[in-house]
Amino acid sequence: MEKKDLDWASLGFGYVQTEQRYVSNFKDGKWDEGGLTTDANVVLNECAGVLQYAQTCFEGLKAYTTEDGRIVTFRPDLNAERMYNTAMRLEMPPFPKDKFVEAVKAVVKANAAYVPPYGSGATLYLRPYMFGSNPVIGVKPATEYQFRIFCTPVGPYFKGGAKPLTLCVSDFDRAAPHGTGNIKAGLNYAMSLHPIVEAHKAGYAENMYLDAATRTKVEETGGANFLFVTKDGKVVTPKSDSILPSITRRSLMIVAREYLGLEAEEREIHFDEVKDFAECGLCGTAAVISPVGKIVDHGKEICFPSGMDEMGPITKKLYETLTGIQMGRINPPEGWIVEID
Ligand code: PLP
Ligand code: COI
Repeated sequence: MEKKDLDWASLGFGYVQTEQRYVSNFKDGKWDEGGLTTDANVVLNECAGVLQYAQTCFEGLKAYTTEDGRIVTFRPDLNAERMYNTAMRLEMPPFPKDKFVEAVKAVVKANAAYVPPYGSGATLYLRPYMFGSNPVIGVKPATEYQFRIFCTPVGPYFKGGAKPLTLCVSDFDRAAPHGTGNIKAGLNYAMSLHPIVEAHKAGYAENMYLDAATRTKVEETGGANFLFVTKDGKVVTPKSDSILPSITRRSLMIVAREYLGLEAEEREIHFDEVKDFAECGLCGTAAVISPVGKIVDHGKEICFPSGMDEMGPITKKLYETLTGIQMGRINPPEGWIVEID
């Protein structure tokens, strides 16, 4: 199979239209057979539930070319499960988990020419999503839905790749206690657009959100979970019911313990403790592990000892082991790597 003639190494995190996408419709209480289409456009009634009351959710995962030339995805079953949970919270009909994984495989296979080559620094990003499609004017769930998956080749989420980022502590809250912070609903991202535009204007790469109830505990950023490393080499990550349960973060905790022999703990993290950590990183599918060099809290700077030039040493080990597993250089734990045949 001939790869597309793209300048893989120069790709940013953007949309490149590929050839095929998956579509399935929910109507009369059931999902249809579903299948691939070349039509990248969605045509909706003006009153569609998604357009009125934002009944939409999504997922994000990647396909990789391994060192020995296979095409693989990373833990797609966990994306299927998280989307199932998200749908339940939003009163949407959950998409069957086994069909989700099959649809992921079908989209990757159909767009194999767009899976960036090994070593290019790029990957194929998959975006499963679902929305209420029939007219809804009273506030209630739609009765018809569309589930789709498209894919696009991407480079690093943050410009500058592995260069440490500077974040600011946001004055806005991301998610309320008992709200929707732990699901991947479009509404969580709509509300983050104003804070991120403001943060970018002020020269920051992302916002650090604190817990809405007390504003004393670290939550996450708009698109990634936090990982910290203590001065005695322990990996710690915030525990909260109002952050997204990142698949990357859950995987890294296992990598830390089982591959690197480190202590790794998920616990509440008070903002006051952050100044005492040795390293900080953002983790997620898009972010992979992006190092953080500095966090600014209303003019007060927290500078991590790892500095502004390079990833901290433990962050680097985590990064290398995780990407080594994803790219087939390191043996994966059972079930983590799903090969596209
Ligand atoms: N937190 C938020 C708010 C996100 O949007 C994402 C991205 O999916 C993550 C965390 C990281 O999750 P994952 O590692 O499953 O991609
Ligand atoms: C992902 O990492 O897949 C996300 O959905 C995060 C988003 C900010 C791009």
